[in-house]
Amino acid sequence: MTTIIQNVCKISQNIFSSFVRVNGQKSMAILDETNVSTLKKLFAQLTLNDIHYDLDELSSLNNECTPSAPITYTSIFQNQFFSLTVFGFRKQSSRIPLHDHPCMHGFIKCVYGSISIKSYTIIDNFSAPNEILNKVSESDHHCLVPSIYVGEEIITSDDYHVGTLTPIDRNIHEIRPITNSAIMADIISPPYTELTNSYFYFFIDTVYDERLDRNITWLLRTMDSRDYYCDTLIYRGPNILV
Ligand SMILES: [Fe+2]
Repeated sequence: MTTIIQNVCKISQNIFSSFVRVNGQKSMAILDETNVSTLKKLFAQLTLNDIHYDLDELSSLNNECTPSAPITYTSIFQNQFFSLTVFGFRKQSSRIPLHDHPCMHGFIKCVYGSISIKSYTIIDNFSAPNEILNKVSESDHHCLVPSIYVGEEIITSDDYHVGTLTPIDRNIHEIRPITNSAIMADIISPPYTELTNSYFYFFIDTVYDERLDRNITWLLRTMDSRDYYCDTLIYRGPNILV
């Protein structure tokens, strides 16, 4: 019997195996809308049972003797075309800080609790005005990234909604739980791997000047993970073949 998680991976393989990034440049590949719609409908139905995720395991490591990371990471599937990963937020204060997805597409499904996604869309060819440049050190001027704050999206495990990002739209986001704990799954393509030579930056979003009266948030690119770290849980769900 084909399981939902196998089907999600097969459709993802179909969609993304023709998606090629050239020399790290932004890919303008157009995804097949019909296949993407099918993937989103199926992904929206994903539950903890489908991936055999044990909620006790999310909390069992979290005791005084063995304090665990605020976020736990489970790799379900990964090849050179896409990755399917689960992130478990152990407490409400945990979060994945602002980060980008260079040239990537992404789909996010909450499978337990509720999560908040705050997203930004990068705008190109916009020079920082002096009011903004003066707020950061000269050595950081080249790290200023102009963006539009798209807004905050709340996704709960039972609302059948899938969050999305593209190489352009909503490409930078911060994710945090709004329940005591929460679990989300994401599909990213191309994945962050050595094969695709991809990496990501973190961002600080405090560079903004109201006097400019413009709807632009200047994000400051940084390698600082701002205390973000994960531990890992093993995937115990069905084997996946694509
Ligand atoms: Fe992300």
